[in-house]
Amino acid sequence: MPEYAELNINGKKHKLPVVLGTEGEKAIDISKLRQDTGFITLDVGYGNTGSCTSSITFMDGENGILRYRGIPVEQLAEHATFKETAYLLIHGRLPTWEEHRQFSVLLNDHSLVHEDMRSFYQHYPRGSHPMGILSAMLNALKSFYPELENLEEEINITVTRLLAKIRTLAAMSYKISRGHQVVYPRPDLAYCENFLNMMFDSPVRPYKIHPDVVKALRLFWILHADHEQNCSTSAVRIVGSGRVNLYAAISAGIAALWGPLHGGANQAVVEMLENIQNEGSSIQRVIERAKDKNDPYRLMGFGHRVYKTYDPRAKIMKNICDTLLSKLTTQDPFLEIAKKLEAVALKDDYFIEHNLYPNVDFYSGIVLRAIGIPTNMFPVMFAIGRLPGWIAQWLESMNDPNWKLCRPRQIYTGPKITDYVPFEQRYKKP
Ligand code: SDX
Repeated sequence: MPEYAELNINGKKHKLPVVLGTEGEKAIDISKLRQDTGFITLDVGYGNTGSCTSSITFMDGENGILRYRGIPVEQLAEHATFKETAYLLIHGRLPTWEEHRQFSVLLNDHSLVHEDMRSFYQHYPRGSHPMGILSAMLNALKSFYPELENLEEEINITVTRLLAKIRTLAAMSYKISRGHQVVYPRPDLAYCENFLNMMFDSPVRPYKIHPDVVKALRLFWILHADHEQNCSTSAVRIVGSGRVNLYAAISAGIAALWGPLHGGANQAVVEMLENIQNEGSSIQRVIERAKDKNDPYRLMGFGHRVYKTYDPRAKIMKNICDTLLSKLTTQDPFLEIAKKLEAVALKDDYFIEHNLYPNVDFYSGIVLRAIGIPTNMFPVMFAIGRLPGWIAQWLESMNDPNWKLCRPRQIYTGPKITDYVPFEQRYKKP
């Protein structure tokens, strides 16, 4: 691999350093391009632009590979807890037994939220989307905790509070939105069990924790835990680059995740399947609409900026659907519709030529339906899973000596210099 790439501009040659990643990824370092050549690059949507070097997650979009700190996601799904996965992403290695125990105690100790926060929910307009509420509450958390002098201590306690409290805040928004009594976290329950209990326990109908539901939730969150420089992670890094506190950076990540092209796709997929069922649309008709350039309709849960083959997470998510529904001896007509859509799309030339395959969101909503999560909380479930990844990426950027305020440039295409026209000349008196 050459050390440099050569750029020839008007006969003048410029050498640009080549950067090589652990897995052979190649980049041209253009950090000095403008000062050396007067040019910038233009890459709308950043599909060809690396924002950083990172040692957290490796994705191979052509081969459908995903690893957290080098460990294949399939192995973590098979053997790890979500807490272990969060610890791995944040600290760069799996915890020892003692570290895992301490981490569990800390997460339990910090899982309550200040009672004053309940009034924030009560004055939120009914029917507000849970992602808007969650983003606001994560930002509001900061107001309850004066900054500690010691930066490292401040960061560690903030990381713990965020991981511990996001579940409580999410479950509170669900309970309060339904006018139900808030259920507090219990010190005797593990991470996933505690969330399920806070969501579904009630004085009139105690929630019975089902091991297969817990396993499905654990897998769901592990599969969502990080995904390198996706839209919401980039938002966390960019907002964090201004040196604002971590609560605010995570709040920005939740806002970025909310959109239907990103983390809101799991909700959009189930709404799409519901429409297909309610309208009795044929699978072929749906596929034709998705292919029609003149129709804004898209097959939600299909396609990905990086994966040009089957998203490895979607494979596992599809298996979770089958396993969980059979363990709960229940069926979901949406799963049958999804499988039919997949079968037709994967044989269709348009989808093959455009490398469109199911992504993590195509089957994930069906898992959440089986668990009992309401559809508008599906992106919230994604956010809880992605929180460890956002934290890990933020920490990595804060500790990167090369990291600085993110401030992209642009190519201006507006009017050339022009003069102000006084008001009286613009509005002729009648
Ligand atoms: C997530 O980045 C991440 O890692 C994200 C994520 C994570 O874990 O953080 O993996 C989570 O966000 C997954 C993606 C969830 N979004 C959806 O499922 C929404 C549906 N998918 C599409 O909107 C789309 O595939 C995107 C947004 C996901 C990716 O789109 P790109 O890379 O910007 O590509 P594009 O929109 O320019 O599409 C390229 C072509 C176009 O056709 P042409 O104009 O070139 O002929 O593919 C077509 C598109 O029309 N296309 C689709 C399609 N997705 C792309 N056509 C029909 N249905 C689709 N779903």
